[in-house]
Amino acid sequence: VLPEKVKIVEVGPRDGLQNEKTIVPTDTKIHLINMLSESGLPVIEATSFVSPKWVPQMADQVEVMKGICRKSGVTYPVLTPNLKGFQSAMKAGASEVAIFGAASELFSKKNINCSVDESLQRFDEVMKAAKEAGVPVRGYVSCVVGCPYEGKVAPEKVAHVAKRLYSMGCYEISLGDTIGVGTPGSMSEMLEAVSREVPVSALAVHCHDTYGQALANILVALQMGISVVDSSVAGLGGCPYAQGASGNVATEDVVYMLHGLGIQTGVDLPKLMDAGAFICRTLNRKTNSKVAQATCKL
Ligand code: HMG
Ligand code: MG
Repeated sequence: VLPEKVKIVEVGPRDGLQNEKTIVPTDTKIHLINMLSESGLPVIEATSFVSPKWVPQMADQVEVMKGICRKSGVTYPVLTPNLKGFQSAMKAGASEVAIFGAASELFSKKNINCSVDESLQRFDEVMKAAKEAGVPVRGYVSCVVGCPYEGKVAPEKVAHVAKRLYSMGCYEISLGDTIGVGTPGSMSEMLEAVSREVPVSALAVHCHDTYGQALANILVALQMGISVVDSSVAGLGGCPYAQGASGNVATEDVVYMLHGLGIQTGVDLPKLMDAGAFICRTLNRKTNSKVAQATCKL
């Protein structure tokens, strides 16, 4: 049985724009987030409080947080890799954060410069501070089916890291197919292993579409009872520490599929498409959304 409602977590302004070659002007980011807010999306990941030396694309995190119009009922989480990031996020007015670990040692090293165990210790510090501040924390696990440096990743490893994040107090665990290599086969195997350790109601899927499998993988997750899906408007994105990773699955395509299945999202597709058209026009790039391409009148 499929869920009646799905919560879409829009990650375009963060996962999408962190991977643009050119630095996107702050005003453009703010305008994009405001348009996304108007489309009915319940969660918009706005930016990340990471080192500007590592990801210069997110160096304007404070200005973005201060500049956006926060619509009531919408949350605007931000990524925080460590306590320093958490403290800056709080100062900038963030009300929700996300910590991001990996199921692969080499990816952890390349992405956040520490081992998986070290990262969990850092996250514990963030978690303690967040609990004190009453701030909800989302947890990511990257490389849940494959790693650009280690190849195949065992489902047990994913389950282990997901369980640690969940026991630490993350209210939701987003399972990231960072390089989009998963298929409905490997995805369901991984989800089965994880759901033995973490309740399905606390799981989300975060699919990149590198191999064109993202919608199929999301459908498998829905069939297993998962009702939270991460996606990126216009299919923006990738990961600066995962070469060749294409964008996240396009939000327009996810919404189209979900509505076609009779699943509610609360999202107004035409408004969402306006936001996608805006960012593509401004960045002078082509949309990765099939739905947006199909209805393109050019
Ligand atoms: P490090 O170099 O090991 O950090 O980086 P450090 O603690 O040794 O500090 C070095 C310098 O960074 C110091 O400054 C710190 O103050 C500064 P300096 O003294 O040299 O001037 N620093 C910071 N500055 C700003 N904000 C901070 C911060 N922390 C330290 N929070 C660190 C470690 C984690 C900081 C670095 O590796 C980093 O920023 N990594 C982020 C990488 C990233 O953002 N990756 C993309 C997001 S993850 C993703 O896309 C996957 C996901 O979408 C899911 C999926 O698809 O799988 C979530
Ligand atoms: Mg991602």
